[in-house]
Amino acid sequence: FPVSVSELNKPALFPDIAKPRRHNSHKGSNGTVAVIGGAVGMQGAVILAARAALYSGAGRTVASFVEATPNFDAQQPELMCRPAQQVQFNPDTVVVIGPGLGNSIASFDLVSRALLSTSPLIIDADALNLMAQQPALHALCNGRDKLSTLLTPHPLEAARLLGCSVEIIQADRISAAKKLARQYSSVVILKGSGSIIAHPDGNMVINPTGNAGLASGGTGDVLGGVCGALMAQHKNMWQAALAATYLHGTAADSLVALGIGPIGLCASELLVEIRKQLNTL
Ligand code: APR
Ligand code: MG
Repeated sequence: FPVSVSELNKPALFPDIAKPRRHNSHKGSNGTVAVIGGAVGMQGAVILAARAALYSGAGRTVASFVEATPNFDAQQPELMCRPAQQVQFNPDTVVVIGPGLGNSIASFDLVSRALLSTSPLIIDADALNLMAQQPALHALCNGRDKLSTLLTPHPLEAARLLGCSVEIIQADRISAAKKLARQYSSVVILKGSGSIIAHPDGNMVINPTGNAGLASGGTGDVLGGVCGALMAQHKNMWQAALAATYLHGTAADSLVALGIGPIGLCASELLVEIRKQLNTL
């Protein structure tokens, strides 16, 4: 069912998320997010996604690393840093898998375990690349509950998932997003200017927020963390995808209005602004 572009992504589309936090909530009721990724040289991707989950209200956040695990994040000591092999996959832990995960036997094993688990999953970056390469992982993805899986490809990752060129993706982004949602039985955010959020049942929404300040390394990792935290708190993958994309964009828009970007806007500068947007919805 088509949605008119002018109505898209108003907070009315994510009513569960656009409401105040319950006064008597506690860290347990605000959910747990575990981010998995961070091969050597890419550990910052996990840190960014985990910090984004923290600033978006997850009750507990675990930053977990496929190879070398730092003892803690000195700038964000609230994060628990753990080896990825220790992540408990259960329905109460939302897993964001892929940021800087790399392409190794260990990363393949982690993606398989995640797909086989009952954890709600946000699948990004290298986890998407592995799924594009390995038909067995694609099959596991299709075996999951549709609304427990969110894929967040940028156009090149989308091209790999669909086995076509990036030009074909960009020439008809709406069709590409819908095709991905259908072929992978998942909610999809096809990122880029005018991100498209597609539902496995055929619905889709174009996000009007955001700007070219987001065209720098790490902003996608931040988006994944926001998706994870909103899913952990509200347990609705469709609304989490809509709200995260919307807020990630409005945060960038309000920073640019202050002269903080578009040139030189850093992904980590989005965090405090996303928190503000979320609290003032
Ligand atoms: N307008 C609006 N939004 C934009 C724009 C733009 N011009 N450019 C980028 N964005 C947004 C996208 O919609 C997305 O939310 O910024 C984010 C960019 O995400 P990614 O492309 O995943 O970027 P990044 O975080 O750097 O990815 C890190 O992981 O996905 C791999 O290969 C990728 O090495 C890269 C790494
Ligand atoms: Mg990315």
